[in-house]
Amino acid sequence: MSSEKENISYQKNDITLDSSDMEKIDNDSESDSTGDKDFIVTPWEVAGDINYSKLIEKFGTYTIGNTLLEKIKDITGEIHPFLKNKYFFSHRDLDVVLDEYSRGNRFYLYTGRGPSGMVHLGHLMPWLFTKYLQEKFDVKLIFQLTDDEKFLFNGNLNMKTIQKYTYENVLDIISVGFDSKKTKIIVDTKHIKYLYPLSIEIAKKITYSTAKAVFGFSNSSNIGMVGFPPVQGAPCFLPSIIENRPTPVLIPAAIDQDPYWRVTRDIAEKLGYPKPAQIHSKFIPGLSSGGKMSSSKPDTALFTVDDPEILETKIKNTFTGGQPTVALQRKLGGNANICPVYWYLNYLFDTEKESQERYSDCTSGNLLCGECKSDMIIKIKPFIKDIQTKREKAQDLIKDFMIDGKEFFDNGNASFN
Ligand code: TYM
Repeated sequence: MSSEKENISYQKNDITLDSSDMEKIDNDSESDSTGDKDFIVTPWEVAGDINYSKLIEKFGTYTIGNTLLEKIKDITGEIHPFLKNKYFFSHRDLDVVLDEYSRGNRFYLYTGRGPSGMVHLGHLMPWLFTKYLQEKFDVKLIFQLTDDEKFLFNGNLNMKTIQKYTYENVLDIISVGFDSKKTKIIVDTKHIKYLYPLSIEIAKKITYSTAKAVFGFSNSSNIGMVGFPPVQGAPCFLPSIIENRPTPVLIPAAIDQDPYWRVTRDIAEKLGYPKPAQIHSKFIPGLSSGGKMSSSKPDTALFTVDDPEILETKIKNTFTGGQPTVALQRKLGGNANICPVYWYLNYLFDTEKESQERYSDCTSGNLLCGECKSDMIIKIKPFIKDIQTKREKAQDLIKDFMIDGKEFFDNGNASFN
């Protein structure tokens, strides 16, 4: 993409802003509060028993229904298991992006990672799907690492630690198998020059009152936090700059990131860019009861760098929906709905038929938790091993993926010479 890199220029200085625009954004905002009595879903916190249908209503997104699935099938010839099993369940403007694609207007994919720890199974899910979409639609991808976000939002993390995680996360991203010719990684603190002009355009259009309503900022939020959202919004418009024409963007991510896209969508057309489209997934649950798998709670997570023995131990110790004794399990059956092991297998490894059988065998007491755990151990070990093998080779590929074409540790230090 070196020729594209040279093409990056910022010519959108014909944009005018005034206070009436700002008021309108506040009134037009699709935004709503992101919390709920029973569960919380924000970009920084996911907790409780998530009701995904309710979340669609709250966030104002759309269910991925059969018509849309058929539209995807018309183009790709198939329906990916993550769509069949409704792991990706919600969207904004996916239909618009597909229609544009059918008319020959290719979209860009955009996804990302906030490097606050090592990569776990939950993070991999949107990336695996993004890789699939990249292949099927033959499209380019911007991958953002928001090291600045993690520094600003996490009181316990310093930049040195975050840089270590950023590097490790880049290895994981590369090991997913994206096409280096069609993928560019942006690390915010390294590559801010590609985002800054766009990010100030966005920032100028969003009032503090909107930011407070959407992100829950308060008087004690540091001002870096308040200023961050436009930086995550900027890659939504970067493809239009790179391609020098309005270029649709599709963002695969779990639904926790939606607040960022809501504010970005609100102001997109005012800045002359297409509204970014999204395809939202559910969450991979953590190993303990309730909540999502989270790198800030390492005990809840299966990491890509875990040794096979660690994976095995973690899964053996996982909370399940089973009864306290074998006799009770046989008599009463288990509760697959609250069982992380059931969902790991459902989302990632079981076929539709296998998952249905597992569900009925579990709930009728024919299946014991140890059996599901051992199925999971058998499936997860080679899956993670494969990533680890690719991770070892990823170091040599970093330059090919970085938007500036440089090595990760090449900081291009300032000099007066
Ligand atoms: P982060 O690092 O929290 O998460 C990275 C991606 O993984 C998804 N995710 C999960 N998906 C399923 N189950 C889970 N348990 C789980 N935990 C996290 C997130 O939704 C996300 O897609 N601010 C972002 C970084 C970012 C970004 C983006 C993400 C910048 N630009 C564009 C998505 C799209 C963050 O901290 O993600």
